[in-house]
Amino acid sequence: MPAGAMLAILMSRSPNVASHYAREGAPSGRILSALTAAGKDLSRLSPADLIPYDQFHLRGHEATEELAQLLSPQADAVVLDLGCGIGGPARWLADQRGCRVIGIDLTPDYCLAAQELSAQVGLAERAGFVCGDGLALPFADASFDQIWTQHAAMNIADKARLYREVARVLKPGGRFGLYDIMAGAAGDPHFPAPWSNTPEWSHLTAPAAVREALLAAGLKERHWRDLTAEARAWSEKVIAAQQAAKGTNPQNPVGPAIILGPAFAEMFANLSRSLAENRVTVVQGVFDKPG
Ligand SMILES: C[S@@+](CC[C@H](N)C(=O)[O-])C[C@H]1O[C@@H](n2cnc3c(N)ncnc32)[C@H](O)[C@@H]1O
Repeated sequence: MPAGAMLAILMSRSPNVASHYAREGAPSGRILSALTAAGKDLSRLSPADLIPYDQFHLRGHEATEELAQLLSPQADAVVLDLGCGIGGPARWLADQRGCRVIGIDLTPDYCLAAQELSAQVGLAERAGFVCGDGLALPFADASFDQIWTQHAAMNIADKARLYREVARVLKPGGRFGLYDIMAGAAGDPHFPAPWSNTPEWSHLTAPAAVREALLAAGLKERHWRDLTAEARAWSEKVIAAQQAAKGTNPQNPVGPAIILGPAFAEMFANLSRSLAENRVTVVQGVFDKPG
């Protein structure tokens, strides 16, 4: 089956997480309208044109590129993006590395947007999307050469089960990359946060416990890097740029603001404060499944 035909709407196991992310239909329509308004010819759109809108994590595209370099999949690899959002990182990997990427996400509108945007940039065959839960991956054992996840685990309480699922669907000798927000030492994050309006659907875990869960799933650590300072500096720069641009083009929001709407500004400011106050930690990691 072509990857682009893999959209399967499964029963959501965490409906309130998905409803936090959902806003007035699939965000692809809003993104394509913004690109048209910015003068782009939609018939000649490239994955790079989507980058201002489709990287839903701290440090944006730079973080995706770093993880892509750490994993460096070959062109014949099949990669899973767990919690893929609207598919930006998956598209970038498929486009730059020539590999096939399957994204899975809990939010049906994001899966639709991911599929529509991939078709729009001619990547429907190599970047396919499935709507489902990372805690019950609808794939056979040893399906993927590599798996990555960025900024999805903060909605998932059962990290032990999440990483067991990762280890199960990874091929022996395969590699797993993560770029996640974890618990900081100074208490709970400020809410609303980009991943949850309230503490109820926020499940930040301390880095040491995340590491322990990964090792308990049978994965071996290759790389672990704390990027909290870099994420903090980036968030402060974004807020300063937004304040400088205030009122210049309110019809054309970029970044996750186009996905989550006007509420995103407060969420992002809270995340920036949480970074500054050591309430959250940002970590990049790479783990191998022994062959
Ligand atoms: C902040 S977005 C990050 C999206 C994407 N990884 C990126 O960096 O652009 C978090 C995503 O995780 C998804 N998510 C949360 N819990 C999930 C779960 N249990 N299984 C699959 N996806 C999940 C949400 O639907 C949302 O799209």
